[in-house]
Amino acid sequence: MPTSPLDELVAGVAEAMEEIAAADETRLAELRTEWLGRKAGRLTRLLRGLTDFAPDERRGIGARANQLKRELETALSARDAALRTSGAPAPDVDWTMPGREWWRGAVHPVTAVIDEICDVFRELGFTRVTGPEAETEEYNFTKLNISLNHPAADEHDTFYLQGGPPMGSGRALLLRTHTSPMQARTMERFTPPIRIVVPGLVYRRDAFDPSHAPAFEQIEGLAVDDGVTFVEFKAAIDFFVKRFFTADTAVRFRPSFFPFTEPSAEVDVQCQLCRGSGCTTCKQTGFLEIMGAGMVHPAVFEHCGIDAERYTGYAFGMGAARIAMLRHGIPDIRLLYQADMRFLDQFRGGR
Ligand code: PHE
Repeated sequence: MPTSPLDELVAGVAEAMEEIAAADETRLAELRTEWLGRKAGRLTRLLRGLTDFAPDERRGIGARANQLKRELETALSARDAALRTSGAPAPDVDWTMPGREWWRGAVHPVTAVIDEICDVFRELGFTRVTGPEAETEEYNFTKLNISLNHPAADEHDTFYLQGGPPMGSGRALLLRTHTSPMQARTMERFTPPIRIVVPGLVYRRDAFDPSHAPAFEQIEGLAVDDGVTFVEFKAAIDFFVKRFFTADTAVRFRPSFFPFTEPSAEVDVQCQLCRGSGCTTCKQTGFLEIMGAGMVHPAVFEHCGIDAERYTGYAFGMGAARIAMLRHGIPDIRLLYQADMRFLDQFRGGR
């Protein structure tokens, strides 16, 4: 009986099939090469050598060899799939793990309001500056024409810092209760024309409630020059309000009192929630107060070495959180100071 070159291989294939069923990844690759490798694979060589056989022999051997090849291929890929899904150590990537979340930073709504306000005043020629939060009684009060007996200077409103010169000496240290001390510091250092805006934290001995915080941001403004008039002051504030809120927002100046301005005013803007028709936020008045302001008091000029005969100026101070509340309809100032991401997330990109 003529032996076909196949017969030698059949036994080998049977062995290989058994080995494949138990092979690890490395051995599996070796077996694949040994049998099906494109150059030297045992079945590959046989199939390539078919032309050496007589045509009638060739068909039988070819068919059988192809069948063996298919069986091997099936066994190899079955084992391959089994290895991938079995407990064999997986590559050190967990494809089911959720992606890492990207955290895009955002500007706090109060910071955004401060930047925007300073930008509006920049259009009017104001430079943004900052100053110290720890101040002396002199800069916080006396130079601003506030006598140390004034209720504002009373220690109930002011956080004094311990260990410095005695209270009432003028040099005692405190946390500034407003940004107005920067009026004095700027006028002492520079000669007019002066146009500055000063954002920064101020401190008052107030408990947190819906409209108070013991520390909050103010933005101070000061303009000193030849011939600065009350009209220029009103025009600047009106420009700011219409630029910051909307072009049709009404502005109202009410007479008021501050020791460091004369005349003094409180500035109201049309309520942004009811557009002036009256609601609970504006207590049915249609207006909300946004700042204290006025013409710089001559006594302040004198305390700061500015010629009060020659120069005039105006100053204003506003609370940034209050304006952020107005703009966004936020009912409680504490929301702005609790760093609660569920609240703050709303202002993402809302710059
Ligand atoms: N400093 C005042 C306050 O904190 C506001 C103010 C600033 C008023 C400038 C007039 C001029 O209430």
